Amino acid sequence: MIDDSIFLKALRKEKLPVPPIWYMRQAGRYMPEYRAVRKNFKNFLDMCKNPEVCCELALQPIDAFKLDAAILFSDILTIPDAFGLEVQFIENEGPVFQNPIEKVDDIDNLMPFDPESLSYVYEAVTNIKNTLPSNIPLIGFCGSPWTLAAYSIEGRSSKDFKKTIGFIKENPDKAHLLLSKLTDACFLYLRKQVQAGADVIQIFDSWANILDAEDLNNYSFQYIKSLIDALKNDSITSNIPIILFARDPKCSTESLLDTSADCLSLYWSMNNFNIRLAENKIALQGNLDPKILLESENAIKKETHKLLEKFKDFPGYIFNLGHGLTPDICPNKVKYLTELVRDY
Ligand code: CP3
Repeated sequence: MIDDSIFLKALRKEKLPVPPIWYMRQAGRYMPEYRAVRKNFKNFLDMCKNPEVCCELALQPIDAFKLDAAILFSDILTIPDAFGLEVQFIENEGPVFQNPIEKVDDIDNLMPFDPESLSYVYEAVTNIKNTLPSNIPLIGFCGSPWTLAAYSIEGRSSKDFKKTIGFIKENPDKAHLLLSKLTDACFLYLRKQVQAGADVIQIFDSWANILDAEDLNNYSFQYIKSLIDALKNDSITSNIPIILFARDPKCSTESLLDTSADCLSLYWSMNNFNIRLAENKIALQGNLDPKILLESENAIKKETHKLLEKFKDFPGYIFNLGHGLTPDICPNKVKYLTELVRDY
């Protein structure tokens, strides 16, 4: 039944008359329904720790726009929080770590990752899976080891992650130790999400853009590849399709294909990605600039048609944005976009 969903068909690189549609950050502040629930919680992570609320939030965009896939409602920073780095979300500042990694000893002394400490996430997965229509797949997710390491060292969001880059250049061996610890944690975490009911996995390498080609391979893609290899070699997760989102990566199409992901989620500005090279090797997702949703319906139509034309003959294209929906986007525009794609 679930195997007949157009989302899983596209991930198997089947050519479809209409692409499946879902949106990064489809559950979020742009929706009034989300804001109504969000106002009951001071801390964002407290909301993530409530599996009933996570279920309600994950279903909101499915109910509103009849999308073809749901995504777990949670955050990538649950893992650093479980390592004891104590993540808080501060309004207008984003995530702030109470115990960031400041010196090499902090990496040696990290408490071992206990996947059971994130049982609230797996409960949310099971709740969502039980509530979703049976033909709608559920995406589980984690941050890439590199992206989690960058937040853990920087201790907060940053434009250039200067502190992190300085730290890894001064302490490359310890940086690699941290990245392996995070890779092991991601594996255990994703396996639990799959056991709880996730049908697909997406890995978010949201800070891939701050590394040059060599460092990207050394500090990020190497670990994504070992995470994917571990999942593909485990009997519980071996058949689960894996999507990789890397934000604006400074690398060749080949090195993205070499990660062994089943699908690449393309950032909106990735115009030199070689689509022909990816054909029949991998599924593709995304690529629409989310900022277009702040413009007129005509502008949205023009850009969307251009994109659909670009992927028209590609076997296994999933419609999505090149990054997440932002709080300033109007839900009517999301509805308009969804109908536009289905009517094309
Ligand atoms: O539909 C969904 O995608 C919901 C699930 C989800 C969230 N975050 C909820 C969230 C997912 C898949 C994420 C992933 C995530 N979290 C990423 C990777 C995707 C990307 O955007 O590149 C990253 C980098 C994070 C870390 C994070 N979480 C930041 C930097 C922030 C604060 C900045 C911001 O956008 O507010 C968050 C908070 C967050 N995560 C919110 C939501 C709905 C908003 C929090 C709020 O309501 O106050």
